[in-house]
Amino acid sequence: MFLSLTLSAIGQTPPFKAKDFSHLIGMPGFSDDALKMHFKLYEGYITNTNLLLDSLKKYADEGKDKTPEYAGLKRRLMWEFDGMRLHEDYFENLGGEGTSLSTEEPLYAQLAQDFGSFEKWKTDFIATGSMRGIGWAVLYYDPLSNRLINTWINEHDHGHLAGGTPLLIMDVFEHAYMLDYGLDRAKYIQAFFDNINWPSVAKRFPVKEKVSDES
Ligand SMILES: [Fe+2]
Repeated sequence: MFLSLTLSAIGQTPPFKAKDFSHLIGMPGFSDDALKMHFKLYEGYITNTNLLLDSLKKYADEGKDKTPEYAGLKRRLMWEFDGMRLHEDYFENLGGEGTSLSTEEPLYAQLAQDFGSFEKWKTDFIATGSMRGIGWAVLYYDPLSNRLINTWINEHDHGHLAGGTPLLIMDVFEHAYMLDYGLDRAKYIQAFFDNINWPSVAKRFPVKEKVSDES
């Protein structure tokens, strides 16, 4: 805390650091090799996010912020940043050890309201994650309309729901499943569902804001 306050006081925001998801090793349906490779890829997004932020600051400090190089780096930044953050959200919503979404949870009721039933939501989420291409299936909550929407994020940075809260994040880049399942993405998606940490997902649902909006 003291170090972070000191650094920000002199204009040196600390760099992003990789989170430790090693507790996921041994998760059924995910080989150790695949998970370790995925952690390495995740760490690459952190390294590159920090490098880009440093480079952009240097360009700005040197008055080169009107250059094509600056614009190129700026565009690249969100691809790396979103890759970092989406992987963190993804790993954090795994490791559920067979938990399910309690029917008592407000999220369960909202899914039933917006999709017709939990099963209908699940079918739509799987259809979203089965689309051809590389990206992410994300269950987003839009607080302005009080509505849940399954979205497709292309790569890492196209398709986010502005102002929304991501609740459940599924990586469907090929690196997430090819080592264990080859081209059988459906089997990977089944393994993903078997390992969702539903209590963690339910906590992301902003119940208080939703209730106060309705009152
Ligand atoms: Fe990934």
